[in-house]
This record gives sequence, structure tokens and C-alpha cells, in this order.
Amino acid sequence: MATTMKSVVLFCFIASFTVISAQVQDCNVPSRFWCENKDIAAKCGVLEQCQKFEWTETNQKVEFVLYYESLCPDCRQFITEMLYPHYSNLSSIMNLTLVPYGNAQERKVGDKWVFECQHGEQECIGNLIETCAIALVKDITKYFPFINCMEKSYKQPEEAAKQCSTSFAVPLEDILKCSKSDFGNKLEHEMAAKTDALEPSHQYVPWITVNGVHTEDIQKEAQDNIVKLICDTYKGTKPQICK
Ligand SMILES: *[C@@H]1O[C@H](CO)[C@@H](O)[C@H](O)[C@H]1NC(C)=O
Ligand SMILES: *[C@@H]1O[C@H](CO)[C@@H](O)[C@H](O)[C@H]1NC(C)=O
Repeated sequence: MATTMKSVVLFCFIASFTVISAQVQDCNVPSRFWCENKDIAAKCGVLEQCQKFEWTETNQKVEFVLYYESLCPDCRQFITEMLYPHYSNLSSIMNLTLVPYGNAQERKVGDKWVFECQHGEQECIGNLIETCAIALVKDITKYFPFINCMEKSYKQPEEAAKQCSTSFAVPLEDILKCSKSDFGNKLEHEMAAKTDALEPSHQYVPWITVNGVHTEDIQKEAQDNIVKLICDTYKGTKPQICK
């Protein structure tokens, strides 16, 4: 019995040692993501294999998810100066998902969720308004201009929403009603659940994943040059904007 245990332990030790040493040092993502983009493939030493077997022609849009909170300065800056200005040029090759929750915390009291936000009560209101806009408007080409306008504004979120709704046709009354309702409360909990499901969990906001992956390099490139990042990641025929 003892001998069996010992050899199992030894075997596991050798097996994990072999796997670890076979990996390039900077390759710290699960193997299913090794062909996600050129950088990761190069770091994991599989660039040639990915080019040969994985990167065949496909029109799959790049999945870009932004985890943010409504009043954080870096989130506002990323949305209003990088993501939104380039969005329409990238929308044919990028599927954008906005998750307004960020560093908030939630706990259940009775059958409702109570949220606590990094920048206080107003930020929770902003998150809820934006979450309701996403859920009710549904079409990102219609709710993103509205959310961008709110993120640009330095008014309190509800005031910002009222003002922004005059420039962008969204159902303001429904959105505000939703943001104060049990339905809105449930929707915001879904944003919390999406955020809490991140692997690895987020360490700051804005937090970006591309095709489900977060790395410091992806984050930095998204913030420096999102067009290049999305174009490099897209596996199909590059549109004009990428040339
Ligand atoms: C979007 O693409 C058009 C046409 O290529 C270009 O003129 C415009 O500057 C681009 N927009 C941004 C924000 O780069
Ligand atoms: C875009 O992403 C959303 C959520 O991740 C998904 O439900 C939807 O099917 C995707 N759309 C396309 C066109 O890939």
C-alpha cells in the first residue's frame, strides 16, 4: 500500500515536472488558448502548429468583453477615448460585450441583492442604468452611444441618462424604471455573476478579455491600440480598416 502511494506520488511529480519544463516560461495560459493569437502562440512555442492547423479561414468575430464600473476614471477614459471611437470601424470583426459591475460587491438580503460600489451609491445607480439600457435596448449600435454619452458626462448618472436620452433614442422612462426594479436588481446580479466567474479573477478595472482570455499584453494593447489588437486577433479576411 505504502509503496503504491509512493510511486503514485513520484509519478505525479515526474509528470508535472515534465509538463512544466516543456512549456516556455512566459506561456501561462491554459493550452486551449495557445492558438488564440500570435503572441501567445509564440510564447508557448506553437506558432508554426497554430498557423498550420488552427488559423484557417474563418469569419468568427473576435469576442471582446469589457468589465468596468460606471464612475471609474480609467474606465471612462478607455470607453470614451478608445473603445467607442473605434467601435464602428471594428464592429464587423468584433463582438463587444459590456459588463457594468467592476469592483462592486454584492450580498443577498431577503430575496434582493444589495450592491456596494467602489465609487459609492451613485456608481451603483450608473451601473444599473447602463445594465438596464443593455437589456432593454438590446441593439449595441443603439445603447453604446447612450452609454458612451453617460461615461463622458460628469453629471450624476440619472441626470446624465436624462440628458443623453435627448441625443440618442433610448426608452429613458423604461430604463430608469428598470434600474429601480426587482428586474433590474436581477440583471445587475447577472453582471456580478459574469464578473465573479472570470478566470483569473479581475484585479482592476477596466478589465479586458479577448476571446475569453486576459493577459497583461492583451490589456495593454487594447488600451494603446485596439484596432491593431482586434485586427491581429481576427482570423478571417482582414477588412480595409486593418490595412
Ligand atoms: C474609421 O475608418 C475610416 C475609414 O477607414 C477612417 O477615415 C476613420 O478615421 C476611422 N475612425 C477612427 C476613429 O479611426
Ligand atoms: C456575441 O457575444 C454574445 C455574448 O457573449 C453572444 O451571445 C452572441 O451570440 C455573440 N454574437 C456573435 C455574432 O458572435
